[in-house]
Amino acid sequence: MSENMKGIHRTHRCTDVTESLIEEKVVVAGWVQTRRDLGGLIFIDLRDISGVLQVVFDAGYIHKEGFVKAEKLRGEYVIIVEGVVAKRREETINSKVPTGTIELFATDFRILSESQTPPFHIDENVSVNEELRLKYRYLDLRRPDIQKNFILRHKAYQSIREYYSKERFLEIETPVLTKSTPEGARDYLVPSRVHPGMFYALPQSPQLFKQLLMVSGFDRYMQITKCYRDEDLRSDRQPEFTQIDTEMSFVDVDDVIQINEKMLQKVFKECVGVDIELPIKRMTYEHAMNKYGSDKPDLRYGLELVDLSNIVRDCGFKVFADAVANGGSVRAINVQGQADMPRRQIDSLTEFVKIFKAKGMAWIAIEADGSHKSAITKFLTDEETGNILKAMDAEHGDLILFCADKDKVVFDALGGLRQELAKKLGLINKDEYNFIWITEFPLLEYSEEDKRYVAIHHPFTAPMDEDIKLLDKDPEKVRAKAYDIVLNGYEIGGGSVRIHQREIQEKMFALLGFTQQEAYDRFGFLLNAFKYGVPPHAGIAYGLDRIIMIMAGCDNIRDVIAFPKTKDASCLMTEAPNVVEEKQLKELGIRVEK
Ligand code: AMO
Ligand code: AMP
Repeated sequence: MSENMKGIHRTHRCTDVTESLIEEKVVVAGWVQTRRDLGGLIFIDLRDISGVLQVVFDAGYIHKEGFVKAEKLRGEYVIIVEGVVAKRREETINSKVPTGTIELFATDFRILSESQTPPFHIDENVSVNEELRLKYRYLDLRRPDIQKNFILRHKAYQSIREYYSKERFLEIETPVLTKSTPEGARDYLVPSRVHPGMFYALPQSPQLFKQLLMVSGFDRYMQITKCYRDEDLRSDRQPEFTQIDTEMSFVDVDDVIQINEKMLQKVFKECVGVDIELPIKRMTYEHAMNKYGSDKPDLRYGLELVDLSNIVRDCGFKVFADAVANGGSVRAINVQGQADMPRRQIDSLTEFVKIFKAKGMAWIAIEADGSHKSAITKFLTDEETGNILKAMDAEHGDLILFCADKDKVVFDALGGLRQELAKKLGLINKDEYNFIWITEFPLLEYSEEDKRYVAIHHPFTAPMDEDIKLLDKDPEKVRAKAYDIVLNGYEIGGGSVRIHQREIQEKMFALLGFTQQEAYDRFGFLLNAFKYGVPPHAGIAYGLDRIIMIMAGCDNIRDVIAFPKTKDASCLMTEAPNVVEEKQLKELGIRVEK
């Protein structure tokens, strides 16, 4: 039978037991990680959140019942042990663990609870099927390599809050049961019992509330908070995730960037010992797209895009000439030293770019002797080929990969190809933390689906002062006072200066195709608030989970979220989402169509 804690108190965590305690009595508690039975001697590794400590049950040392009980111990039993700390004999020292020079000779112990054989062995670096891990997440979370992610996460919370608090930001909570917020994903809805047929929306971000807090005069706000978005999930996206959300009054772009990059500098130093050089470099959206095919470029490697449209617009290769004639472009990447990449590998890259809707991937290999291998050079004049190679800085041994299409397809395909090549060719330095601010995003983009303009950031983002005059005649050319912070190819944060002048806000709504009435229906409370004296304000929100994921060296955001969801937004452990009782539905006035 399991025993309880009555009359016994833990004195130390496992790895707080050190050589300085030799010959002293301590009490430790935890889980049996491994057990070796050598007859009169039983060794166990006892594990708690701090690490492991070797405990020895010696038939000649502990009382008789104690030893008999120790023979029953199995993996994952929970025990509390009183014992005397001793130095290990030289040949049994384990330099791999912090407590490797000592062991605890048990004088007494209790079995606090027994354990069935777990569905997988709980140890560092064991590779276990992810579904099984998520179903038994509480066991998965016992693994030291996962636990360290949460210790890191905790440290980050403290460091972030300390920073903002010192900078006189106030942490203020905003509601979770609220009205739709304008971040562009689908909402999670919560039906109201008291108001049948009505719904709350879970916030996609605290955006409107933090702007209202500025109207209220709080001046500098921050919050570490959950956001909810019903969108397609990926390795860096969860349906509920955590933002470090901030907003400030009486500021412009530079102020927000400066104060927020200092936060990154402090947190990265304190949590992972990484020095960030300030100011973090900035790059315009236009430059990022042209050079990297992405608004979140990974700058740890080259493989930059080069625009060849002007060289090939009249060439004999129809695919290229047509792409330019149709308003698109032809761009290419020089993959240095890869001229002898095997044909099937080139073919698999061609298949890869098709994910991004590219129709093909032409290539030219420049052999070591300077001759060309390619299916397209026969359609080009020697001069055109020469100009392409010159523009690409191509040397003997290089491989040039081309994409011709609408700009969006070319950027997506070659931007994706850059990442794929860097991974495949091992060009990424895993120890590097490469930060970049991306600025001057377009304010609007035309949505073919909705047949209207949509805001790229959100409808409250201010246009750049010098572009306001373009709002009427050339809205697509208007750049926004919006900025993203990108780390190693991940967008870890984004924000903007907000519109605080009514005329511009009204113009923006008109551009987005909202009537005055529609704008008031959705955001009336904000627009009304703006009638009563609103300070210029701006802010940014970071994706905390993504930051921790990168700090922890993980590839998946799930590894830094205690109870994450799968790709189809379900929780394998609780089996959420799930059906509810008929009675509950009735109360809510909801009938489910099968
Ligand atoms: P944005 O929508 O860019 O801005 O979100 C800010 C940051 O949140 C992170 N993020 C996510 N992380 C995990 N899973 C998701 N599904 C997910 N979606 C977003 C990203 C992103 O950069 N209110 C504005 C901020 C502002 O303007 O101040 C906003 O929410 O790292
Ligand atoms: P084809 O003449 O269609 O066989 O194409 C010759 C080469 O051009 C092949 O390597 C194709 O992959 C490539 N190609 C086809 N369409 C495109 C495109 N839109 N952009 C770049 N290369 C293409």
